[in-house]
Amino acid sequence: MKLSLDNQVAVVTGAAGVLCSSLAKSLLECGAKVVLLGRTASKVENLAKKFADEGLTQTLAIGADVLDKQSLINAKKKINDTWGAVSILVNGAGGNSPGATSPQEVMDSKEGSFFEMDLDGFDQVMKLNYNGTLLPCMVFGEDMLDCQNASIINISSMSAISPLTKVAGYSSSKAAINNFTQWLAVHFSKKGIRVNAIAPGFFVSEQNRFLLYEEDGKTLTPRGNKIIKATPMEQFGNPEDLNGALAFLCSPQARFITGIVLPIDGGFSAYSGV
Ligand SMILES: NC(=O)c1ccc[n+]([C@@H]2O[C@H](COP(=O)([O-])OP(=O)(O)OC[C@H]3O[C@@H](n4cnc5c(N)ncnc54)[C@H](OP(=O)(O)O)[C@@H]3O)[C@@H](O)[C@H]2O)c1
Repeated sequence: MKLSLDNQVAVVTGAAGVLCSSLAKSLLECGAKVVLLGRTASKVENLAKKFADEGLTQTLAIGADVLDKQSLINAKKKINDTWGAVSILVNGAGGNSPGATSPQEVMDSKEGSFFEMDLDGFDQVMKLNYNGTLLPCMVFGEDMLDCQNASIINISSMSAISPLTKVAGYSSSKAAINNFTQWLAVHFSKKGIRVNAIAPGFFVSEQNRFLLYEEDGKTLTPRGNKIIKATPMEQFGNPEDLNGALAFLCSPQARFITGIVLPIDGGFSAYSGV
């Protein structure tokens, strides 16, 4: 069975990111027309050029902020004028904030503990991960009411299922994404819009490489080591490992699947450690 997304118009937010550029490419390879949406226009424009060099030309690069509803409305108008209605939305823009992170895993002393975290950090990470998913669903979801097989894919995380130490704000915000995914799936259930999430395990990116590997780039840090020990497959994921799940969840073959959060994690979330 070949998964085809021919004639679908997909928006990928945060498209220039490590995981989302791979997801965007996979949608193109499945036949979708793909809007590469990102905060910095030059980054998504460069990505579109890179894809074109690889023969993938059905892209539209748009600079827009997922926290600015008007900029999303402007993006939607441009997409509708160019390609018509959006039928797939991948809410990829997301990330962490240092202010919502505690250097200490388990509190030892007051310094570097929960008491030194700041509300602004929590606000930032909640806004980016939660509002930054909510607003694109509001804006692009309207288009989907007129589509046949419409699909929203949110990006969750392992820290949504059981919080990772240190990243308090990020974990709460991703737990909120799981809850919202279920809520919206039910809300849209009679309107032909399916809402699911994928929960990536641990993937090496420029942002987290220093947390996982020592300066030599080969030796695992203590945290990297812990993760590998807690991952039955004993490896980090490659961005491409997410692509099959995304294509499947967006395809008509998944027409009866809505409201799920699919872990793609080498067994991390299944393993108790014993
Ligand atoms: N990497 C992992 O191991 C991992 C694991 C689990 C879950 N995730 C989740 O997967 C998603 C993608 O992660 P990633 O590693 O690919 O992220 P990334 O490489 O850090 O890229 C994030 C992208 O989001 C864009 N962005 C940030 N704020 C934005 C805004 N307000 N409006 C529009 N775009 C914005 C950034 O654009 P600019 O550069 O222009 O700011 C960037 O291109 C995130 O939700 C992340 O939390 C990642």
